[in-house]
Amino acid sequence: MSNRLPVDHEVNPDGSDAWRTSPGGLVTALEPLMQASDGAWVGWPGVADRSFDPFEKNGISIIPVRLSALELEQFYEGFSNDTLWPLYHDVIAPPSYHREWWDSYVAVNRRFAERAASAAAPGATVWVHDYQLQLVPRMLREARPDLLIGFFNHIPFPPYGIYAQLPWRKQILDGLLGADLIGFQRVADAGNFSAAVRRLFGYTTRGVAIDVPDAAGSRHVIAKHFPISIDAASYEALARRPDIQERARQIRADLGNPGTIMLGVDRLDYTKGIGHRIKAFGELLEDGSLSVEDVTLVQVASPSRERVGTYIALRDEIELAVGRLNGDYSTISHTAISYHHHAYPREEMVALYLAADVMLVTALRDGMNLVAKEYVAVRFDGDGVLVLSEFAGAADELKQAILINPHDIDGVKAAILRAIAMPRTERTRRMRALRRKVFDNDVAAWSASFLRTLTEGAVVRAGVPDK
Ligand code: G6P
Repeated sequence: MSNRLPVDHEVNPDGSDAWRTSPGGLVTALEPLMQASDGAWVGWPGVADRSFDPFEKNGISIIPVRLSALELEQFYEGFSNDTLWPLYHDVIAPPSYHREWWDSYVAVNRRFAERAASAAAPGATVWVHDYQLQLVPRMLREARPDLLIGFFNHIPFPPYGIYAQLPWRKQILDGLLGADLIGFQRVADAGNFSAAVRRLFGYTTRGVAIDVPDAAGSRHVIAKHFPISIDAASYEALARRPDIQERARQIRADLGNPGTIMLGVDRLDYTKGIGHRIKAFGELLEDGSLSVEDVTLVQVASPSRERVGTYIALRDEIELAVGRLNGDYSTISHTAISYHHHAYPREEMVALYLAADVMLVTALRDGMNLVAKEYVAVRFDGDGVLVLSEFAGAADELKQAILINPHDIDGVKAAILRAIAMPRTERTRRMRALRRKVFDNDVAAWSASFLRTLTEGAVVRAGVPDK
């Protein structure tokens, strides 16, 4: 279960229904798993006030959940993306707290829980995903105590000093504690969660185990990190296709064959540090360290949450910065920033990754950042340099990247210059180590490890006499 289904509903010009791949890392990670399983995916089809019967798409059974236009505003744009999203990302933008949004969050979580409760077979495993559905584990346990319930949080879990702002902080923790296993991206996220449980409920925690009192005595809930990944082999397979390699050459030529192509790929989100990246690049052009004849920055900013105020303001801010920089530095033959407010099919993204000498991931806070892993998976040629923010979960694993603090603009500038000048032997050595990480822990290994822990926990619990 996740708020966003792998496909979004769209209407063709002739009025017929169309389904398009949904944005974001969650779908990228879960789609291959669900294609390989015979379960069903419960989620929202990306459009308000429309009901759809369950259907099959790209080898996945889909159970759509309806949201009204008001719920889209209060549950999705409001509580999920204007309260929880900024709060969980270190309050980079100020979270808004509205009681009507909370009521809508409760109501929509209940609908999701009811839908899953009626669809799940006896004793089935239900895996709930992400911050939009944190109340579902408890609701589901109450309706269906026979189920094995896992939850995975794709975004960070903040330190207590930040989390404590949330007026509904106890209800959310209680909702999550309805699960048997709660997964996080980083060790620090799981630690923050357990600390919040201790502070707000006083429950005993031992390592990754939390004792949660219930009518029968107590249950053991596990809170542990499981860093998510991608289907690395499928990205490499695309990168090996001659037509995609030809497209990468074409992209290079169309950009005027600059010495270095740098690439940024993000949803247009204030957590991604796109402005910091543009500022660093602009200063390098200004002080003459770089010139547009030698270096081009390609920035793909895919549209996201376009009716939320902070995102509207961010788009204006980024596009003003891009326009200014291009006005100041572009020439007729060379554009400083090739900016694209679009989502592209995976084939085009792989061609862009192949064409990019330097990949810039400058997130101010990010649960994992799968773009970093996609870039690495694609570079079977052992070339390319990854510049990676230490505030992205991926930095815990991808230590052979050039790690940066995106707030330190001089540091980002130095990292860019170092990436551009890095000798081939060092590039290859680093990329090899990065590739080993990404291929050893691909998304299949990630889900297997989560589901193994969930099942083993159930076996242990079954053996405990007071259960
Ligand atoms: C991130 C979140 C996902 C979300 C995706 C796209 O990856 O972790 O839960 O689906 O962004 O955002 P959207 O609001 O369009 O679903």
